Amino acid sequence: MIPQSFILDLLNRIDIVDAIDRYIPLKKAGANFTACCPFHNEKTPSFTVSQSKQFYHCFGCGVHGNAIGFLMEYGGLSFTDAVSQLAEYAGMQMPAPVTVSMNLPDSSGSPESSEEFVQNQTNISTQDLNQTLQIAAQFYKSQLKLSQKAIDYLKKRGLSGKTAARFGIGYAPPGWQGLSAAFPDYKSEQTRSILQQVGLVVVDADKQYDRFRDRIIFPIVNLKGRIIGFGGRVIEQGEPKYLNSPETALFGKGRELYHLFSARRAIREVDRVIVVEGYMDVIALSQYSIDYAVATLGTAITSFQIQRLMRQTDNIIFCFDGDNAGRKAAWRALENSLEFLSDNKYLSFLFLPEGEDPDSYVSRNGKELFEQQLMRATPLSEFMFKELCLGINLQTSEGRAKLIHQTKPLLQQIKAPALVSLLLKKLEELSGVNQNQMAGLMQLKPALKRANIQQDHVARQLITPYRRIIMMLLCKPGYLEKLDRELLVECDETKQEQGALKALVDLLDKNLHLIENPLTHSILTYFNDIPYKTLLENIESEMLEWDDMIDLEAEFMGAQQLLRQAQRNKRMTELHSKSLAQLTDEEKQELQKLTSF
Ligand code: UTP
Ligand code: MN
Repeated sequence: MIPQSFILDLLNRIDIVDAIDRYIPLKKAGANFTACCPFHNEKTPSFTVSQSKQFYHCFGCGVHGNAIGFLMEYGGLSFTDAVSQLAEYAGMQMPAPVTVSMNLPDSSGSPESSEEFVQNQTNISTQDLNQTLQIAAQFYKSQLKLSQKAIDYLKKRGLSGKTAARFGIGYAPPGWQGLSAAFPDYKSEQTRSILQQVGLVVVDADKQYDRFRDRIIFPIVNLKGRIIGFGGRVIEQGEPKYLNSPETALFGKGRELYHLFSARRAIREVDRVIVVEGYMDVIALSQYSIDYAVATLGTAITSFQIQRLMRQTDNIIFCFDGDNAGRKAAWRALENSLEFLSDNKYLSFLFLPEGEDPDSYVSRNGKELFEQQLMRATPLSEFMFKELCLGINLQTSEGRAKLIHQTKPLLQQIKAPALVSLLLKKLEELSGVNQNQMAGLMQLKPALKRANIQQDHVARQLITPYRRIIMMLLCKPGYLEKLDRELLVECDETKQEQGALKALVDLLDKNLHLIENPLTHSILTYFNDIPYKTLLENIESEMLEWDDMIDLEAEFMGAQQLLRQAQRNKRMTELHSKSLAQLTDEEKQELQKLTSF
């Protein structure tokens, strides 16, 4: 019913890691992401999600599938519902839906249709809310073009028109009901209710007015790429300097990070992220080609946000002002990170010289100097002890005892075994209490040993060349053209893996259009009912254990070589089992040929 092209398009647009992460928090584990499986009861995570191949697999209970499958299983949704939910999430229109959209002020649609829309709508959906914010953002953007004052201000701050456009910066006009220009039925009960729900208008007794007036507007986008709120800055002086959308159904200051959606690629590329405090810091850095910075939204960074970032990279640099407030914010960041540290994470803190913020620093000194500063950021462990020792006289026993006392609750939260042990060592140096005694004092739980489930479940089984070839084809269906078809002739379809190989090759042959371009997700995604589905899925899941260093092509050729050899041996054994007299002339020739290899 839903065209396949739509489904493929959808799967291309969304990221399974984000899709699943909305329901169960995923942790980065090497190239993959893991969590405790939501489909069976377990204490150590064997549910694994591959970002590069866009599928999930549980090594414990064997569930396997793509983002659509996940929603169906997890949410108990029908196929259509799962697709439609993901489509909404990706900002895509379902094919042939019956939706009436609100009108942009400059669009040709008549106000009646939006009236109708509002009246027919008894329940306000997320989509309505999204759409409203989208319309408002467009409106603010168009208003910026009309306001010389706002343009001058941005120019004065060094922003180029290109940057402003990239960040969708806008301007909210000074009037109390400016938005009525964008929403013809601004005053109707329904529209008012929607506008209020997304935080764009304030309703006070009978009065209804715009929250953002005479402010530069920064749209805030969530990880799905949808606008969920705004930050608004006064031009020049005024209070408050920044006004943000209130907490709404869509927008949570403790969840979102400014610019994370657009910065994801850059973050992965350089494998680090900078966390700054202000919108303007992010924007200035980006204008100087440092596009891997994100900002919190006027509150201390939460553990949720930290986990979100840790899913993108193992290196987080918190960049704060050098003043007291900056150090305080840094300490909060440290406290909220401890629980999620692991030995492969690197968190550090950069304090800029007093009076500077990233915006002013990069504008004055340029990209190179800023990046040099980043390299010199203080590692978390160092920052931690520096702060803990502040105001403590380590010359006295009392001072040293106090240090231990203050360190204890922090260390207890850290689950990274190597880090804990190094921190204990440092504490020993500072306090003079030796590590053995210290461990007792700290009442540390023994570091959790992660069972290596993956090894138990898969790696130990013998991998036949058939299995290997299937694996390579699943990973890189383009290898089909490098496949020696003669190897298939001997396939014994009563054997699972051999049958599966043949079936897979058949399937690929019939769908060559799919493999012309590199796939961004699992080839199995394209097929609903295929023979040997479970086996193929299991083989696919074995990919999760490969490291990135694997030379796929060499592996593929090697596997074929092995298979050729195995088939030859098998045939030789067959022929040898007959007496010479039983062999036909052809068979004799064959045997001779086989032995000559
Ligand atoms: P700063 O006051 O450090 O401002 O606020 P800034 O980013 O350097 O801004 P410019 O350069 O003067 O324009 C940092 C962040 O704190 C939040 C905003 O998210 C801002 O980006 N904030 C600040 C508020 O929410 N409200 C305020 O009144 C001030
Ligand atoms: Mn600033």
